[in-house]
Amino acid sequence: MRSRERLVIPFRSKVVEPISLLPREERQRRVEAAGFNLFRLASADVYIDLLTDSGTGAISVYQLGRSMMGDESYAGSRSFEEMRRQVQETMGFPFTIPVHQGRAAEQVLNYVMIRRNSFVPGNAHFDTTKAHIEIAEGRAIDCTIDAGRTSEGNYPFKGNIAVSKLERVIERYGARHIAYILLTITCNSGGGQPVSMQNIRDVRALASAHGLPLVFDAARFAENAYFIKEREPGYKDKSIPEIVHEMFSYADACTMSAKKDAIVPMGGFIGCRDPELYERLKTPAILFEGFFTYGGMSGADMEMLAQGLREVTDVTYLAYRIGQVRRFGELLQSFGVPIVEPVGGHAVFIDARKFFPNVPEDEFPAQLLCAELYREGGVRCVEVGSCLVGRDPDSGENIRPPLDLCRLTIPRRVYTFEHLEYVADVIRTVLEERGTKLKRGLCFDHEAEGIRHFSSTFRYL
Ligand SMILES: Cc1ncc(COP(=O)(O)O)c(C=O)c1O
Repeated sequence: MRSRERLVIPFRSKVVEPISLLPREERQRRVEAAGFNLFRLASADVYIDLLTDSGTGAISVYQLGRSMMGDESYAGSRSFEEMRRQVQETMGFPFTIPVHQGRAAEQVLNYVMIRRNSFVPGNAHFDTTKAHIEIAEGRAIDCTIDAGRTSEGNYPFKGNIAVSKLERVIERYGARHIAYILLTITCNSGGGQPVSMQNIRDVRALASAHGLPLVFDAARFAENAYFIKEREPGYKDKSIPEIVHEMFSYADACTMSAKKDAIVPMGGFIGCRDPELYERLKTPAILFEGFFTYGGMSGADMEMLAQGLREVTDVTYLAYRIGQVRRFGELLQSFGVPIVEPVGGHAVFIDARKFFPNVPEDEFPAQLLCAELYREGGVRCVEVGSCLVGRDPDSGENIRPPLDLCRLTIPRRVYTFEHLEYVADVIRTVLEERGTKLKRGLCFDHEAEGIRHFSSTFRYL
């Protein structure tokens, strides 16, 4: 079933980058040499790269033009002021600390906000987010609603936090042991699923009742706002900037990987409202990132980021962006590919346990699927499942996540629908030829420590 709405594509290409497909035997050789971990491939080995939407978007002529205006002064640059002003205009935070990317924002914020053995409840924390909380000796607790833990069912806001779970966590550990509540919008680990305005409001109310800060991981805030406009009663006639403003009015601070919804190759920031928090963030920002008016970003990057924030909140852009990803998902469904429903904002997630029903769950079916798609068509995607979630920090046991997913992440403004049709055909071929035939998966050849999915290697069982 295909969406019937007409997609208006708000750009045309003026500069292109050649890509090519290696012969099948060469792909086979390279994926084996990479230990079946596609992070270990060179980009030249890849034909269609759906590894991530992070830093992979195409910049606009306006962003390129603004980058020429970059003021590279060490302190108090004009470009910092331009970025600070734009963050305030878009999100309402008066204070901004630039950092080189999202995880750096997490490091700086957690350095200040987490005390030993404090907790950070939230909705399916992203992997670097969880790791940074743990490095700061805190614990992340996932309070996502049950509907967000299954690939079935068309619940419109699967990224929501279950307020009752959150209440139980606060009751159990006591508010003074909660560092802050974290809402990831949209929720990447849960399938790019949005959080509703009502849920944001409810979480805010609970946070206020207990005197707790509410922080957003805002990497895909604009995509979240579009889903609210599309799906939540009362928001159809509101503009995206109005919705974004309301969303952020409930947050005390945010971390932002600008590589997503500010469409820049590199950059990020912390936004906050409280002047005291801003003062406390300055020292770790200087130590880990750089002076607090550049924090690891060049003036050119800060200019592009500010322009990206303006472009990403354009409703025509968002309709095209969300529409392209959705159509890709619908095409896969028409081929019988089991995907997470409803399709999220930045990616289509294949439920690999259903795709390979005969591969045992502890033999990394999603990792296997990533390797198969590369072998079949030079497509690079990423496992978001058993390998990525890692081990329980207390017991050391492998965590069995509710879903073992293969994520096909769509870079912003980069691939045409014809590219995606090619990918869909590759997936269909793997499904038809090997879906039920494969009975064994992969095991670790070398299990890397810590965030293991980037560098571990695998072998066939
Ligand atoms: C939700 C979310 N938070 C944080 C990050 C980390 O951002 P970065 O890759 O810029 O360090 C990511 C990156 O993918 C993300 O998706």
